[in-house]
Amino acid sequence: MKEKNDTGIFSEDQPKPLKPPDSFRKKALIKDDSLYREAEKDKLAFWSGRAEDLQWMKKWDQVLDDSNPPYYKWFVNGKLNVSVNCLDRHVDNGLGNKKAIVFEGEKGDTENLTYEQLLKEVNKFCNVLSNLGVGQGDAVTIWMPMIPEAVVAMLACTRIGAVHSVVFGGFSPDALKDRILDSKSKLLVTADGANRKGKVLTMKGAAEEALEQCPSIEKVVIAERTGTDYDVKEGRDLRWKDLMKDADENFSAAEMDAEDPLFILYSSGTTGKPKGILHTTGGYLVGVNTTHRYVFDHHDDDIYWCTADIGWITGHSYIVYGPLSNASTVFMYEGTPDYPNRDRFWELIEKYKITVFYTAPTAIRSFMRWGNHFPDGRDLSSLRLLGSVGEPINPEAWLWYFEHIGKGKCPIVDTWWQTETGMIMITPLPGVTPLKPGSATTPFPGIEVDIVDDQGNSTSPGQRGFLVIKSPWPAMLRTLYEDHERYEHTYWKQYPGIYFTGDGAWKDSDGYLWIMGRVDDVLNVSGHRIGTMEVESALVDHQSVAEAAVIGKVHEIKGHAITAFVTLKEGVEGNEELLQELKSHVGKKIGAIARPEEIFFTYELPKTRSGKIMRRLLRDIAEQRDLGDVTTLMDPQVVAAIKKGYTEK
Ligand code: WT7
Repeated sequence: MKEKNDTGIFSEDQPKPLKPPDSFRKKALIKDDSLYREAEKDKLAFWSGRAEDLQWMKKWDQVLDDSNPPYYKWFVNGKLNVSVNCLDRHVDNGLGNKKAIVFEGEKGDTENLTYEQLLKEVNKFCNVLSNLGVGQGDAVTIWMPMIPEAVVAMLACTRIGAVHSVVFGGFSPDALKDRILDSKSKLLVTADGANRKGKVLTMKGAAEEALEQCPSIEKVVIAERTGTDYDVKEGRDLRWKDLMKDADENFSAAEMDAEDPLFILYSSGTTGKPKGILHTTGGYLVGVNTTHRYVFDHHDDDIYWCTADIGWITGHSYIVYGPLSNASTVFMYEGTPDYPNRDRFWELIEKYKITVFYTAPTAIRSFMRWGNHFPDGRDLSSLRLLGSVGEPINPEAWLWYFEHIGKGKCPIVDTWWQTETGMIMITPLPGVTPLKPGSATTPFPGIEVDIVDDQGNSTSPGQRGFLVIKSPWPAMLRTLYEDHERYEHTYWKQYPGIYFTGDGAWKDSDGYLWIMGRVDDVLNVSGHRIGTMEVESALVDHQSVAEAAVIGKVHEIKGHAITAFVTLKEGVEGNEELLQELKSHVGKKIGAIARPEEIFFTYELPKTRSGKIMRRLLRDIAEQRDLGDVTTLMDPQVVAAIKKGYTEK
């Protein structure tokens, strides 16, 4: 991130852009600006051309219906099935024996599924789902570890026309419960347990805590992963293995409308309640298929590895739907980068000859800290392209990634996008775009972004503003599940007709975009979005807490570290024990990723006279900056008190 100078203008001194290495460019799918020119000439014709690459059961009548903004429709009246595009189409094209998923478990166990085998598994699971009464439009919650069964379950939902809601396996049962209740899922797919750094975590047992309060769930399907015991509720709980044993290997895919819901994915916003981001079928698939192909320069012999979890949008778009719709071979890993050793990822790249590797800046910063001897001790020569996603990558981490992992020969695609955008929006094209470390460079062809000030006017180069998207794109969210009002309010109210991303950014004089992070009360912890309000709600849910304010303190590895300021109820004493209890309480309500790193007790929070908590002041205190204007404070004493408590810690 660039430092602001006195005038509020960002530094224009940029290093010389790095041209794509010749060795890469020669073999790249796109070597020139043809895609950009094609999209500039006629955006809709460009997307329609990309849609032609997929298999449709009925062609669309209209590429984009923008008659009722912000409710856009893409590929109007087109009919297709996502699983057919990810599986049958490739088998029919003679790729049945090509590996679709190459899986390795934390313990080193392996499993390969060819496109033909994956199709069979998906068909079998479709029959299972269908026999359990799941049909078109029904919601299915998937809470699973990173195992192939999770992909099978997702694809089976799309084949039937059921709407999946994948909940990140690291979320707590409480968070799972909220998401099941909101989506009104009929069925939960989970596993007996999960492997995590040599330990076994109970999953089905934990899910039970959620299920007690989820009346909509009729059936629970449990995949076997760890052999962990669990209580079986007769008539409700069913074992994956038993159900699949005799299931029919054929299932005819449902003909879905391009605008039928494909999935819901919950993501944090500025209130305590997560947003159910709704994606639909045709536009989403066109968007992720196109971006996966060109951003990751898809080649038939790639072994592609995206290290995200399936429970995040990155897993949906760039482990499952993008790569599988391009008939890529997807490597999938169950574990973490530091178990059993801190070279686990490099060991896997060496073993599987990974060619394309896509990970997050927070991971890269950890790798840097762990030391160069870990990657240096492994053969990484199979790599040809690297990617980054989730938060701004600082130039130092970018250069380390480029040098120590890519050995100076792999372009890095720094891809900016969101759960809402569904697909990569700002990114280099690796064979074309000269790279500047720390910049996600320019919009993908067909994507129109701008940086605007409070009034909605375009800012000049070097001037910080808000990142907006000026016209609809195929994989855009269609609404927030059963909450149109919040959809309109969150994304379309600031600038009518223009999508508000919630990110701050600036543009340099070459037109390169520099993303500066969220401008709202949303934190980015290790590349994951967590709303300050969500953590605050979890804190005030505790019987001892009167009020809480949560901020993100800049953190070297994680981006943000969660810091909470808490006032206690009358008569409650703030001690170390309570502090630990509150941290666990948040972990239990949301999940380990939301556990505050620091909690401070204070007699009052800094508020404006109208009662609004001044988080800016708390951030300044936490980051030990001079405090700006405090005259609007209701109780000016409070800042001194918090500051004192903070420095005494
Ligand atoms: C927010 C979206 C989309 C996948 C993972 C996160 C930040 C994402 C970048 C990047 C700078 C980035 C933004 C965005 N972000 N990628 N390459 N450079 N910032 O998805 O949880 O929906 O979060 O992540 O702040 O708004 P998400």
